[in-house]
Amino acid sequence: MELISRPRRLRRTPALRAMVRQFSLSASDFIYPLFIHENRENESITAMPGISRWSLEGLIRQVAIAWDLGIRCVVLFPKISDHLKNANGDECLNESGLIPKAIRLIKQEYPGMAVMTDVALDPYSSDGHDGIVSKEGIILNDETVDILCRQAIVQARAGADLIGPSDMMDGRVKAIREALDNEGFQDIGIISYTAKYASAYYGPFREALDSAPSTITSKPIPSDKSTYQMDPANLREALIEAFWDEHEGADILMVKPGLAYLDVISSLRQNTKQPIAAYNVSGEYSMVKAAAERGWINERAVVLETLLCFKRAGADLILTYHACDAAFWLANN
Ligand code: PBG
Repeated sequence: MELISRPRRLRRTPALRAMVRQFSLSASDFIYPLFIHENRENESITAMPGISRWSLEGLIRQVAIAWDLGIRCVVLFPKISDHLKNANGDECLNESGLIPKAIRLIKQEYPGMAVMTDVALDPYSSDGHDGIVSKEGIILNDETVDILCRQAIVQARAGADLIGPSDMMDGRVKAIREALDNEGFQDIGIISYTAKYASAYYGPFREALDSAPSTITSKPIPSDKSTYQMDPANLREALIEAFWDEHEGADILMVKPGLAYLDVISSLRQNTKQPIAAYNVSGEYSMVKAAAERGWINERAVVLETLLCFKRAGADLILTYHACDAAFWLANN
């Protein structure tokens, strides 16, 4: 054949392939999510093989492992005891609560590790929603934002580096930015869950925190989060969210879930200069683990391929439960 172009020429050897490779992964791309609880024992999470709710001691051990692998950011999620939950999620304002305690401990032991937090009421709410639920079953926006600002300040005081509002209330980035600035935290960043979809992929996470919408109260509590999280059918709406988050002062924009939403990442990439994070969520993790346990896929290859594809789609950072495994595989190639 007389061909003008033979693209296979550049695929012929590992050296040539490496020369023209566009994207790569490194441990510093990862943000490692960690579940914590008040107990002294670590407790494995059935739906997420390899992941536990860590005691504070277990948490520090995980941070040490992550640090040694080159990971430089962790994000904390608390499992709060039922007796500390109420309708307004007041425990999120407790300066000596689980999250502030954990942040201080990490900062004391590993001051160089960046700590990201989650701002939302669901772990603390007896109703299991990210915001306050009115007696009519409406998730109240402005009243919730008020509490979220105070929650963010508690986290910043404890030493958090990046505040991560995951609640999807309108106007919360601006309000949190102003609240942080007023308290002298102008250098603490906001990584906003910008395009967070109402997704069934969060199932294992809600098991981990026991934070699913409640079914046992007298209020008509919505069974899903679709009045504040986005409809999976929508793409343009993600650009509206991104526009506002950016203008309200978000430092990093996040898309969540990740895998089924690569087009959203790509779209945001073309519409903003801010760094973009992808959240490779619990359900995505569990699917890979389940197939790997059955020997149906090569876990290492699938995980590294998936994470790389987030980069190709336009993400700079990836929140992933595979962070430590992936960092280990990258270092031992
Ligand atoms: C809650 C929150 C959720 C996740 C992160 N923060 C769950 C939800 O919105 O119900 C999900 C993360 C995952 O599934 O890994 N504000």
